Amino acid sequence: MLKDKKILLGITGSVAAYKSIDLIKLFKNKGAVVEVIMTASAARFISPMSISVASGSRIHTDMFEDHLAHINLPLASDLFVVAPATANIISKHASGIADDLLSSSLLAYDRKALFAPAMNWRMYQNPVWQKNLDILASLGHCFVGPERGSLACGEEGIGRMARVEHIVEAAEACMSDQDLSGQRLLVTAGPTREYIDPVRYITNRSSGKMGFALARAARRRGASVTLIKGPCSIEPPYGVELVDVDTAAQMHKAVMDRLPALTMLIMSAAVADFSPSTRYDKKIEKSELTRLDLVRTDDIVADAGSSAERPFIVGFSAETGSSVERAVKKLHDKNMDMIVFNDVSRSDIGFDCDLNEVVIIDRNGSLPLPLMSKDETAEAILDRAVELKKLSGKE
Ligand code: CTP
Repeated sequence: MLKDKKILLGITGSVAAYKSIDLIKLFKNKGAVVEVIMTASAARFISPMSISVASGSRIHTDMFEDHLAHINLPLASDLFVVAPATANIISKHASGIADDLLSSSLLAYDRKALFAPAMNWRMYQNPVWQKNLDILASLGHCFVGPERGSLACGEEGIGRMARVEHIVEAAEACMSDQDLSGQRLLVTAGPTREYIDPVRYITNRSSGKMGFALARAARRRGASVTLIKGPCSIEPPYGVELVDVDTAAQMHKAVMDRLPALTMLIMSAAVADFSPSTRYDKKIEKSELTRLDLVRTDDIVADAGSSAERPFIVGFSAETGSSVERAVKKLHDKNMDMIVFNDVSRSDIGFDCDLNEVVIIDRNGSLPLPLMSKDETAEAILDRAVELKKLSGKE
């Protein structure tokens, strides 16, 4: 998404300015070209030389280096990002003040910009600043953070600049078509654990990567997203409601409680099919456990499919070498609208991989997708779901 895109990054005078180097590197790793404007205050926190080395280009600091820089720089960019954005730059822009290169360039930029505020919590809570924030938000500008945590002044509170990974995700969202705006999506991801005792459990293999990619893509496209996740060790997406669960029963409850409010349910979790019939409170001696009786867990997607408050439902069918027929049967048996089939026995697209090659099946036929990243696969799954949802009149 950011490949070959031109990011104009404004850096202002906050202690978080040192994180700009990592931010620039992340943007560049995604294929973006980064041009930087630094304010005089920013240059007191981090040297323009360091930023120049990271970005690979000359840093703009002086309003009069070129009398048209404040017009040409924003004009040539695909997205204007201000990170860190002090209370000062946000208030100046909300008031239309243009007294240096950065504020003048912002005024000359006629699209929505992304701000990553960073300041002391007292400044953040000041109603004057909040009013200025509201002005920019009402004009359609995007914001990421600030986060709560320990601040440079030694206090705890809201005001830390958002993590650089989240700023990049917000930049991608800012540039995306918001075609899922108004949609309320629930994505499940990862495995569940069915406990024998406090230290032993039965589980399914799943990294959660595909579900996380779907939640991230849906959020980027404007949906309000809840991600119900079993135990996963990967970084969750930014801007989604996170619900942690352990067992299939907890996931079942978390999904069914939210079902009436949803427009789409995506069940990508690898829900355990069996649970031990007895869960011991204390770790039992192995000599005492001579047999394990199992009971079937409730089928979440089937229960959602038979519910009167049924949203548009997407399921997954991770198989080991079987044909798509098995997925087609699950689509009908569980009353889903769409099912995504993949062969997890393949080493290039199986567990823990970043790539996937899936077949999307619906009631009218199937759509095989090429081998691509899980992020790209997520986009294609959402594209097809949006299309089918429109066709089915569930829009
Ligand atoms: N699923 C579910 N609740 C369960 C088991 C599975 O909601 N207790 C969902 C999965 O999240 C997936 C779909 O059902 O979207 C198909 O899951 P899968 O494990 O492939 O199929 P099963 O119906 O469990 O059948 P089998 O294990 O025999 O292949």
